[in-house]
Amino acid sequence: MNKQIITITGAAGNIAYSLIFRILSGSIFSDNVKIQINLLDITPALGILKGVKYEIEDCAFEKLDSIIITDKPDEAFADSDYILLVGAKPRSKGMQRADLLLDNASIFQKQAIIINEVAKKTSQIIVVGNPANTNALIVQHFAKNIPDENITSLMRLDQNRAKSILSNKLKQTVDSISRLIVWGNHSATQYPDLTNTLISGDDSLVKKIDMTWIIETFIPRVQKRGAEIIEHRGKSSAASAASAIYDHLNALVNSSNDWESMGVMRSNDYDISNEIFFSYPLIIENSIISINNDLKLTDDSFKYIKESEAELLTERNIIRSILKD
Ligand code: NAD
Ligand code: LMR
Repeated sequence: MNKQIITITGAAGNIAYSLIFRILSGSIFSDNVKIQINLLDITPALGILKGVKYEIEDCAFEKLDSIIITDKPDEAFADSDYILLVGAKPRSKGMQRADLLLDNASIFQKQAIIINEVAKKTSQIIVVGNPANTNALIVQHFAKNIPDENITSLMRLDQNRAKSILSNKLKQTVDSISRLIVWGNHSATQYPDLTNTLISGDDSLVKKIDMTWIIETFIPRVQKRGAEIIEHRGKSSAASAASAIYDHLNALVNSSNDWESMGVMRSNDYDISNEIFFSYPLIIENSIISINNDLKLTDDSFKYIKESEAELLTERNIIRSILKD
């Protein structure tokens, strides 16, 4: 039997309450793999974690090996294969995700220092807590023992949103849509890009879409979808975020036939700084992520992605003093 250890931070929170159960009931890992799940939250949330643990047990998941609940990051991260950094403050109505930066930065700084000490060098880290791309930069800075390639931030929620909105527009199934990618920051400057998108391998339907719909409806709708959810639910997205984390993890473990969107810090051919976590069109083969550097960008696309880069460079400037430590 093969065992994988998955750590989830913020395990008493909203996203985790969907995520844990998706992972344990899902099919990312093959049948001969058992999962040890390490659940980390802060001390006042230990009571909630105990309830979550009982509920996990009550599901009698065949894939479950064991559960650790803890408020000690070193215990949670030790020997972990996948570290899902969810635990952080969410925004509320009227806030931008970047408004969380200074509140959440210290969480990621402290955890990254401990990850650096106790985690496996091969561990894959997925940063979810907002602002996810810049928190990933903090993790990269303080967890130098983990290769940069093993750190990614969540953009799959944006990619899924874009796919679903396009699917409704064209009355085509989501699984017929490919090569729909989201560039940039997980924020209102992200650029959902239909330039190369195919429906059942063909570009003719997408090419017929009116540009006014793309510019005035599609792009802003995807960019502001998180805020739209908060407006209606009073809380930020949780089940859809968990589903996107599941998809992201699945792509890392099992690779992907389609282009993926994730925040990565890499040299690239698109004139984007390699000192920020930025979402590109990615190819994942044999669990190795590479940027698809072959796309020709229109002037408009280039403008969008440079705007998102500028925002991420501003976020990096805001945390510059933290990165000096
Ligand atoms: P939540 O408030 O329901 O849960 C957050 C949990 O984190 C709480 O249980 C809290 O106690 C815990 N926590 C706080 N500090 C911690 C620490 N130092 N160590 C461990 N746990 C800690 O929030 P949520 O809805 O689950 O969202 C979590 C984060 O994910 C937010 O920052 C939210 O904005 C972000 N998010 C990101 C995306 C994305 O696509 N990147 C999508 C949705 C939400
Ligand atoms: C989302 O996109 O739903 C999350 O990042 C939560 C938020 O603040 O919008």
